[in-house]
Amino acid sequence: MKEINSENLEIKKAKKGDFRQIFRLLKQLWPQKDLSQKKLLPQYKKQLKYLTKIFFVLILCKKIVGLFSLTVKSNKTLYVPELVVDEKHRGHGIGKAAMAFIASYAIINNFKKLQLHSRPKRKEAHNLYTKLGFKKTFSIFKMSWCFTKNLEQKRTIAALKEARL
Ligand SMILES: CC(C)(COP(=O)(O)OP(=O)(O)OC[C@H]1O[C@@H](n2cnc3c(N)ncnc32)[C@H](O)[C@@H]1OP(=O)(O)O)[C@@H](O)C(=O)NCCC(=O)NCCS
Repeated sequence: MKEINSENLEIKKAKKGDFRQIFRLLKQLWPQKDLSQKKLLPQYKKQLKYLTKIFFVLILCKKIVGLFSLTVKSNKTLYVPELVVDEKHRGHGIGKAAMAFIASYAIINNFKKLQLHSRPKRKEAHNLYTKLGFKKTFSIFKMSWCFTKNLEQKRTIAALKEARL
């Protein structure tokens, strides 16, 4: 597989028609959950309509190979509820590219912090977040690690380029 870069990996806001691919990836994210497409579709449509959660899809050679979602936790903190790369495409830099995009998107939109929670067994994800400078603390309430990163408040050209905005 070719190296992932901004030329071959597209990151776009998800559309209604992406739901089947999104559902396929959510099943990979939560294999232990009995997810129902029928129940999730109306929720997804609502989130698209009211922008309570924004889904982005990661596209490689016209195929959706990953997704992440974003919500606003406060006016200062951007929260990442979901991030998953298709199991066939892991280990090639897509997760890292997604996180770089998220950080740039947050900076451009004047957020001061990025945050997410992650279950203890998700070692690959924890390596990714730690490598990117996230600090981790344990949340007993969520029985998960809470990863937080303070962002540099500079609207850098690099950030704009990374987010391709
Ligand atoms: C976590 C996840 C999104 C990473 O995506 P990816 O495209 O495979 O990640 P990348 O190839 O960009 O790797 C980035 C870093 O993640 C870590 N990582 C990725 N795969 C790893 C593995 N198999 N073992 C250990 N660390 C790993 C490494 O630190 C890596 O950096 P490096 O390549 O410089 O060593 C992906 O593994 C995934 O979807 N996992 C299942 C769902 C999940 O856990 N989501 C996170 C929810 S909090």
